[in-house]
Amino acid sequence: MTIYLDHAATTPMRPEVLEAMLPYMTEHFGNPSSVHSYGQQSKLALSRSRDRIAQILGCAPNELMFTSGGTESDNTALFGAVFAQSSQKANVSDRKKHIITSQIEHHAILHTCAHLERIGYEVTYLPVDAYGQVRLQDVEQAFRPDTLMISLMFGNNETGTLQPVLEVGRMAKERNVLMHVDAVQALGTILFDLTAFPFDLVSFSSHKINGPKGVGALYVKKGVALSPQLYGGSQERNKRAGTENVAGIVGFAKAVELAYKELQDKNKRLLQLRELMVRSLQDRLAAEEWIVNGHPDYFLPHILNISFPGMNTESMLMNLDLAGIAAASGSACSSGSLEPSHVLKAMQLPESILNSAIRFSFGFGTTEDDILTTVNKIATIIHHMRNS
Ligand SMILES: Cc1ncc(COP(=O)(O)O)c(C=O)c1O
Repeated sequence: MTIYLDHAATTPMRPEVLEAMLPYMTEHFGNPSSVHSYGQQSKLALSRSRDRIAQILGCAPNELMFTSGGTESDNTALFGAVFAQSSQKANVSDRKKHIITSQIEHHAILHTCAHLERIGYEVTYLPVDAYGQVRLQDVEQAFRPDTLMISLMFGNNETGTLQPVLEVGRMAKERNVLMHVDAVQALGTILFDLTAFPFDLVSFSSHKINGPKGVGALYVKKGVALSPQLYGGSQERNKRAGTENVAGIVGFAKAVELAYKELQDKNKRLLQLRELMVRSLQDRLAAEEWIVNGHPDYFLPHILNISFPGMNTESMLMNLDLAGIAAASGSACSSGSLEPSHVLKAMQLPESILNSAIRFSFGFGTTEDDILTTVNKIATIIHHMRNS
């Protein structure tokens, strides 16, 4: 039996979600753009899903644009804002060409920014402190008269550390700078009130909250100009062409609904699991054998990043896998070897911590027994490796 502790990578779909989706993959297969009853049924499902998600996240339905997931939402937020400015300002010298982000963003942001640099934009990558948080004084200093937007994640996917997004959003607003937030990991654990929050653009993804893969949303505050990244039909109010993923969107809406119905209980349970893991490690390992990476107080409850100095991430993960435990490194696997994670590197942690970090992430179906078994296996692996 495998214990799945990689919910930050993706989550199992809940049976209720699959049940909600199935009719839209079978009898209700119509194209929402068709005028006949098949089409109208799909169109209704689409608008009901949009209404439901908007109601839960505190925005107007027409401020939500469905996408293929977090990556597309992130790309669309950045490219869409940049290209909207290009079409509004014919004179190149009138355009703002500076973007601010952080060194610990997901690659969906970092690689998009790298491309923007290749086409002439200037990007400031904010450093973080040892807990993985950006400092407000660094944000303050990074703003320039030609700053177009700032993109900062709500909570980090590797360490769980929360960013001061509300404060940064307010700073951006004062300076007339667009604020984008990657809330892919925060959806389902944080309560959103998008109309009240100082955010212009927010990215969400369905498969991190027990919904289907390949679907997500981008919140675009009323009045924010965004150029489409896909041209074709007039779907999504001309902002994203292509026949909608109706079943996926219905499943996404169901997943959001369930996540928010159970938010408080779920967060409490996730915190208990996280604390249980920390306490059990305290019981089983010496203090110098492990360390938690990330902020001690401001974190997403489903992510726990731990380094085991003296161990090696790759062999630890392989041994855990052999023991039936699925965990992750935050690192990118390039040509068969693990590169230390860009997030932990930005936190300027020592080599022994960088090279031995494992991300455990909890979710639907994780039990206390899973945690206790995992800690036992970790202790066995470490003692075995130390003595071999
Ligand atoms: C913070 C963050 N942003 C963006 C993404 C990309 O989302 P998707 O897998 O839906 O493209 C992820 C997924 O790992 C993520 O954790």
